[in-house]
Amino acid sequence: MPSRATLPEWAALRKHRDTIASTNLRAQFAADPSRGTRMAASGAGLFLDYSKHRINNDTLALLRALADACGLRSRIEAMFRGDHINLTEDRAVLHTALRAKRGATVSDKGVNVVGEVHGVLDRMAVCADAIRSGAWRGHTGSRIRAVVNVGIGGSDLGPVMAYEALRHFSDRSIAFRFVSNVDSTDFAEATRDLDPAETLFIISSKTFTTLETMTNAHTARAWLLKAFGGDEQAVAKHFVAVSTNAKQVAAFGIDTANMFGFWDWVGGRYSMDSAIGLSTMLAIGPDNFRAMLDGMHEMDEHFRTAPWETNLPVIMGLLAVWYADFFGAQTVAVLPYDQYLKRFPAYLQQLTMESNGKRIALDGSVVDYDTGAVYWGEPGTNGQHSFYQLIHQGTRLIPCDFIGFHEGLNPIGAHHDILMANVFAQAEALAFGKTPEQVKAEGTPDWLVPHRVFDGNRPSSVILAQRLDPATLGRLVALYEMSVFTQGTIWNINSFDQWGVELGKQLAQRIIPELTSHTPLAHDSSTNNLIAIYREKRG
Ligand code: F6P
Repeated sequence: MPSRATLPEWAALRKHRDTIASTNLRAQFAADPSRGTRMAASGAGLFLDYSKHRINNDTLALLRALADACGLRSRIEAMFRGDHINLTEDRAVLHTALRAKRGATVSDKGVNVVGEVHGVLDRMAVCADAIRSGAWRGHTGSRIRAVVNVGIGGSDLGPVMAYEALRHFSDRSIAFRFVSNVDSTDFAEATRDLDPAETLFIISSKTFTTLETMTNAHTARAWLLKAFGGDEQAVAKHFVAVSTNAKQVAAFGIDTANMFGFWDWVGGRYSMDSAIGLSTMLAIGPDNFRAMLDGMHEMDEHFRTAPWETNLPVIMGLLAVWYADFFGAQTVAVLPYDQYLKRFPAYLQQLTMESNGKRIALDGSVVDYDTGAVYWGEPGTNGQHSFYQLIHQGTRLIPCDFIGFHEGLNPIGAHHDILMANVFAQAEALAFGKTPEQVKAEGTPDWLVPHRVFDGNRPSSVILAQRLDPATLGRLVALYEMSVFTQGTIWNINSFDQWGVELGKQLAQRIIPELTSHTPLAHDSSTNNLIAIYREKRG
């Protein structure tokens, strides 16, 4: 398969880049008063203003032509149809089936998976209702007042992000904690004030073999059993599992009646809407969880059916490619102006970087263009008083996604208006900056003028929605999932495997026993030395 960079559409974009580089947003807005309303699109309850990007109509047409040349439409259909587009693992990619409507048909290997999906959702709802109502009692008859999700990567980041994002809708009589790190501090701090008699652990692991999760799960089991004098009977009332691996779940000692399954066609970073979302459902209740799934489904349908011109994930994905491959941008900042979305950038880091951090194309060749950018961010307005300086006046081009809501969930005085004014002001400042003439006109002494100039011409999107409710969170998550898919399709990579995490895991397994033994070391001289020092000084 020839490199994407050899496509005429790619070459056309490379040439076109010079035209765009020679103009700026100030001039483009001055020349076209309708730009701000024209370069905007709505879909599935979200509004996207992409007018403050370094593009013109030709850029968009060329990017859409690239999407066509890369077969985006047929790739979308292949994913939704259940083709095994995850080639290296020979798996379908069907997270869209997790939010398909009851009664729909989506098949993998001849089996309609939607029935199974709703079967698990129904069982999750029974469990959630029992815990939320107090019908589920612990080993000593107490109600459950604390839920601890033990998982890592996709089995943690989605659940913790969704819990934080939807905390406003959560049952405040239950404490929710998330343990992911193999650093025992994580477990110790999460459980130090909890009563074992009132605590339920959800062991969330697709494989049920992940070192960190299994280590924490065994620690949780020991913590619980210590409180109950070693009575193994307690496990049944205080442990449930979410996994695709029933055998390992049973081997751990969790009754598979308390196991909620999912399937190999759900990638870890695409699993927050599967049973991995059990903690989310316990927090917000089954109806709100279903509303979140409906929001995702709405965005899926938008992505599947909307023309490229108004297709939000496609526009965002193509813009990401534009900056990564034609402007050399290394990163994208995601800046949610909502405190509840404080973990959203961390969640997106796995979604985007584990998906598109690849240098091998689908045919096994090495790509000769840049792929996935580094995603990062913090909620506004905090970031403004920290790293925005670099975005405004640094030497790097950092496209930004601002996310804001028309309504705040905790209205107090003028807070929300102040918050949203900052969204609009930051996007405006980045795009238009402040010229030397403007700075001088303020009476700034000549020597200080360059320091106070803002070049502008710095790109951003503004994503707006009415309020951060479960459906909106679902739409936002699916928006980014499908933008990631669009980027991966253009780059001709597999966005659904993650071989890059394997080597470190294997090497750690080899080193673990070496730390507590005196066996001769056969690593490189640096690793040998580090292990030797640790052996000598370990506490
Ligand atoms: O970090 C690699 C990874 O496989 C992720 O893709 C996954 O989300 C995470 O580990 C956790 O895996 P599991 O759910 O199997 O414990």
